[in-house]
Amino acid sequence: MIASLNGVTPGGWTGYARAIEDAGAVAIELNVYYLPGDPDVSGREVEQRHVEILQRVKGAVTLPVAVKLSPYFSSTGEMARQLDAAGADALVLFNRFLQPDVDSESLSVVPNLGLSSPAEARLPRTWIALLYGRLHAALAASTGVEGPDDLAKYLLAGADVVMTTSSLLRHGPKHAAALLDGLSAWMERKGFDTVGEVRGKLAVPLGSDATAHERAGYVSALRAANASEYGPW
Ligand SMILES: Cc1cc2nc3c(=O)[nH]c(=O)nc-3n(C[C@H](O)[C@H](O)[C@H](O)COP(=O)(O)O)c2cc1C
Repeated sequence: MIASLNGVTPGGWTGYARAIEDAGAVAIELNVYYLPGDPDVSGREVEQRHVEILQRVKGAVTLPVAVKLSPYFSSTGEMARQLDAAGADALVLFNRFLQPDVDSESLSVVPNLGLSSPAEARLPRTWIALLYGRLHAALAASTGVEGPDDLAKYLLAGADVVMTTSSLLRHGPKHAAALLDGLSAWMERKGFDTVGEVRGKLAVPLGSDATAHERAGYVSALRAANASEYGPW
């Protein structure tokens, strides 16, 4: 059992982490659900809070500890490297924040627990492709898995682990088997014998300029759109 630990106060984490270890968990996922609403809090302070929480939990337990990250850092890659250096055993990319909606009829703010869609996998997939082979920490993909194709794409980007919540809530627990069967069928069709052969095949190559790589992807996407029948939009 992997236990998920949510919260924001560094001091409160260690007791919970020990209790989780004592209860028999084999790993801990730290979900630092923290979006600073206070404009006086600097980006460095936000990063430091993540590192501090990780260090305290790592100091309190012997279990592997994964950190579930927000996608909202100025430099997500550097944040990932800081957590890697602080001993994160895995990074989960990314957390999905529940953003309330506004009802313009009742003039009220409405809490919203919408499930994810595959289009949302693009951001975590891009970061997994950029970080693949550059960290000690394993990379777990989270957000936007609906069908086997989404599993395949995350593995091609370089994910060690692929997670899904929304698809299981939509289709029920049996969907997990359908995802795995679909992945096996895809691997057979494509001539892959092992997941290891798939993993990272489309990651950003080591030694390449990741910023230039991203820019090139953006430019070619615009070129393709311009060349399409419908124009760019
Ligand atoms: C009903 C529900 C409950 C969730 N509870 C938690 C939670 O307790 N801790 C956590 O880290 N994430 C929680 N999440 C977020 C999911 O773990 C996941 O990050 C998010 O749903 C995006 O992944 P998905 O596309 O696979 O759904 C929850 C999501 C849903 C829909």
